Amino acid sequence: SRQFCVGGNWKMNGDQKSIAELCKILSAGPLDPNTQVYVGVPAPYLIYVRSLLPETINVAAQNCYKVEKGAFTGEISPAIIKDTGAGWVILGHSERRQIFKESDELIAEKVEHALAAGLKVVACIGETLDEREANKTQEVVARQMCAIAQKVKDWTNVVVAYEPVWAIGTGKTATPEQAQEVHAYLRQWLTENISKEVAATLRIQYGGSVTGANAKDLAKKPDIDGFLVGGASLKPEFVQIVNARQ
Ligand code: 13P
Repeated sequence: SRQFCVGGNWKMNGDQKSIAELCKILSAGPLDPNTQVYVGVPAPYLIYVRSLLPETINVAAQNCYKVEKGAFTGEISPAIIKDTGAGWVILGHSERRQIFKESDELIAEKVEHALAAGLKVVACIGETLDEREANKTQEVVARQMCAIAQKVKDWTNVVVAYEPVWAIGTGKTATPEQAQEVHAYLRQWLTENISKEVAATLRIQYGGSVTGANAKDLAKKPDIDGFLVGGASLKPEFVQIVNARQ
């Protein structure tokens, strides 16, 4: 069975003071020991957050570049992330895709390199409102998965986050049924295109306006293996979301 996995994506928020307060709350928990937890931190705070949290809480970067080092001003490599003590990286977030125009192919290359460097990867996918309304949800998530799958040989260190763009930061959560439908489709896609084993073991998180109030119902769905949380991950409420299966 798949271990429940909840991540917080702090995005471009926080300062040393607010981060120290949040880390105190997370450290106190108590967090369900059966749930795997990570927090996605602005890069300059990776070392700081790693020093403030217990080892049971994983630290993630929110992006990285696709090569190990060199003349890439402003970028960070998987090797640098590892050197900070963080073990995870979130890749392909819809904000990277939309605002920074990252392509399916670039994201796949980043996933490949981050895995090769020994990081655990959260690979984000999801359709826009226009795509959903045009009944293209399955086509879009399949295209995004396909690009990633071409670069992944071993899925052990991959978590997929399904984040419908229309649900991100809007307060419009997908209903448990809407999320379950896409998660089940992704598992079917994995069965047909990768293997039964990967389909059965790969964790698929849901993201998009997850709160303490709606997490429990979403967590009951058989193919929802956790959450990627934005806004609510900056609040004490994140503890409740981590504990949604309790
Ligand atoms: P919100 O939880 O703020 O909707 O953000 C979701 C998200 O983008 C997590 O990566």
